[in-house]
Amino acid sequence: MKVVLSGIRPTGNLHLGNYYGAMINFLKMQEENKCYFFIADWHSLTTHPDPNKLHANVRTILSEYLACGLDPEKAILYVQSDVPEIAELYLLLNMHAYLGELEKTVSFKEKARQNPDNVNAGLLTYPVLMATDILIHHADYVPVGKDQEQHLEITRNYANRFNYKYGVDYFKLPTAYNFGKELIKIPGLDGSGKMGKSEGNCIYLIDEPKVIEKKIKKALTDNGPEGVNTPKPDYIENLFTILKVVSTPEVVAYYDNLWNAGETKWYGSLKKQLAEDIIKVTNPIRERINDIQNDDAYLHKITREGAEKARESASKTLKEVREIMGFKSF
Ligand code: TRP
Repeated sequence: MKVVLSGIRPTGNLHLGNYYGAMINFLKMQEENKCYFFIADWHSLTTHPDPNKLHANVRTILSEYLACGLDPEKAILYVQSDVPEIAELYLLLNMHAYLGELEKTVSFKEKARQNPDNVNAGLLTYPVLMATDILIHHADYVPVGKDQEQHLEITRNYANRFNYKYGVDYFKLPTAYNFGKELIKIPGLDGSGKMGKSEGNCIYLIDEPKVIEKKIKKALTDNGPEGVNTPKPDYIENLFTILKVVSTPEVVAYYDNLWNAGETKWYGSLKKQLAEDIIKVTNPIRERINDIQNDDAYLHKITREGAEKARESASKTLKEVREIMGFKSF
């Protein structure tokens, strides 16, 4: 059985793009692999989140993960800061992380440019913490987006370096897992290629039906096709892309035919249908999010059990690493 691991920083809510992108694949992966899904609250500290909001942010993402169907009976779900072994291994790995290479990391350079007043050591060593997350459970696969691939490369470097330095074959080299064809990309509602938090073009799983209807109504359109069988502009193609994911093939064919026939004045109907079918998907999830979010006892139980399982694996690794590095107790 392969070990799959993924972390998410607790910032914001999951949107439709997250759901049909990573989440659908996570749901499949948890059936066939040993999966670790965790909330990277230590990673989120680089931007100094408000202490009054940190816990709520963790609660939100955890509830959304559970509501989407990540199953604590199948996968190991935990909060990073519940596993102190990660902090110790991070300290140890930091001794093999060099300033020059950390400074050259693309994500570091970008963040440092964006926030020149907050170039803290945690930001610099962000890739070391991420490598620790991965190596501490000997992950085989780490599903990541393009922006995180360099961090995976760095993780492999550290694993290699550690093995070489201590003459062991201890750390496994993890592979960045790209969903490839299986990855459904949900476009934005503004004609842009991708639904994304920072783009402000999202439908969130937690959005009320009224909100979804409003957002879809506002999606970019035009006056209709300018003739028979003309190509669709991107922003219209985007609406069809989402429709294909949430509606039936008959519904898609119906609107496709209207476009190809060069008909006008049906965007209102398309948007109504699209909103309705999106709501069909998000409604049960939203209801579960709200239930889970208010269920302290359940969240307590899930996080305790998750931390216990994660710590079992993490403490085994840490014990072995300590031995390899020469620590002995008196
Ligand atoms: N760096 C990731 C992000 O910004 C989050 C993350 C932290 C992560 N640790 C990880 C992802 C380990 C995969 C594996 O999105």
